[in-house]
Amino acid sequence: MKVLVTGGTGNVGGAVVRELLTRGSQVRVLARKHPLAGKLPTQAEVAIGDLMDPVSLEAALEGVDKLFLLNAVVADELTQALIAYGIAKRKGVKHITYLSVFKAEQFKDVPHFASKLAIENALRESGVAYTILRPGYYIQNDGTLKGALTGAGIYPMPIGTEGICAVDVRDIAEAAAISLTGEGHEGQTYDLVGPSLINGPANAALWSTLLSKEIRYTGHNFDQWELQMRTMAPAWTAFDLRVMFQGYFERGFASTASEVERLTHLLGHAPRSYKSFAEETAAQWKD
Ligand SMILES: NC(=O)c1ccc[n+]([C@@H]2O[C@H](COP(=O)([O-])OP(=O)(O)OC[C@H]3O[C@@H](n4cnc5c(N)ncnc54)[C@H](OP(=O)(O)O)[C@@H]3O)[C@@H](O)[C@H]2O)c1
Repeated sequence: MKVLVTGGTGNVGGAVVRELLTRGSQVRVLARKHPLAGKLPTQAEVAIGDLMDPVSLEAALEGVDKLFLLNAVVADELTQALIAYGIAKRKGVKHITYLSVFKAEQFKDVPHFASKLAIENALRESGVAYTILRPGYYIQNDGTLKGALTGAGIYPMPIGTEGICAVDVRDIAEAAAISLTGEGHEGQTYDLVGPSLINGPANAALWSTLLSKEIRYTGHNFDQWELQMRTMAPAWTAFDLRVMFQGYFERGFASTASEVERLTHLLGHAPRSYKSFAEETAAQWKD
């Protein structure tokens, strides 16, 4: 069984490639350019192409049984995803596992959530077997905060105080591989959530303990956060992410015990926690 993985050079897609290979699947990765040596396992094939280029997708999907579809947060995300879905359908792909986002239907004002909801709807109406994965905040996002945590002593993610759901990328990859290699996942939508909620002050306190340093939660002044974000990313991205974080703050983004239980059943083990990721990461940073 051969699976085409989009986003295979990224965080989630890369982990999905490894999980699929572990489970004995053949894997082809759609990549815009040849990945550097060591980026992908040697068993993975590479098809050079672009999600904006239907011709390259037709070639990449030749001889492929199933598709793992991940789209980056880009302004033309909806177009890219519908091209991949449309070509996959035309080529007779048997199953599509689509990486969406938790609570997509409750955040229609967030451009990348709205795109994902439209893609979910297309899949549900399509006639092609599908599984939808809806992950919460990636725990590994905070692996990029080394400078802020160890330098300025701040926890800068405006995730609020109420508690939002967060999931480990390794659990997302396992769920994706299970949906593509196991039985009974057609038409299913899985919420991918960690075992406990995270919040700004608690994360700051956890990192303070792990790094033996005072770390302060910078709070949730969304105007200020968006301005700061514009210095690092295009203004449309800063807007999109600001509306997302503000939405978490105002409407909530918490998971329930039954969602955790359902994921535990799917994975065959409890989902990984933010705390254990932080412990692993702090130990690596100390090394
Ligand atoms: N971060 C979170 O907390 C979170 C939570 C829930 C859902 N999500 C969703 O997760 C997804 C991002 O996952 P990630 O963190 O694994 O992404 P990532 O590491 O940023 O990787 C993005 C991948 O997309 C590829 N790509 C971008 N544009 C492409 C194009 N035009 N054609 C083909 N490939 C293209 C990139 O390839 P190159 O190597 O060529 O750049 C890369 O492999 C988004 O859909 C986001 O909404 C994120």
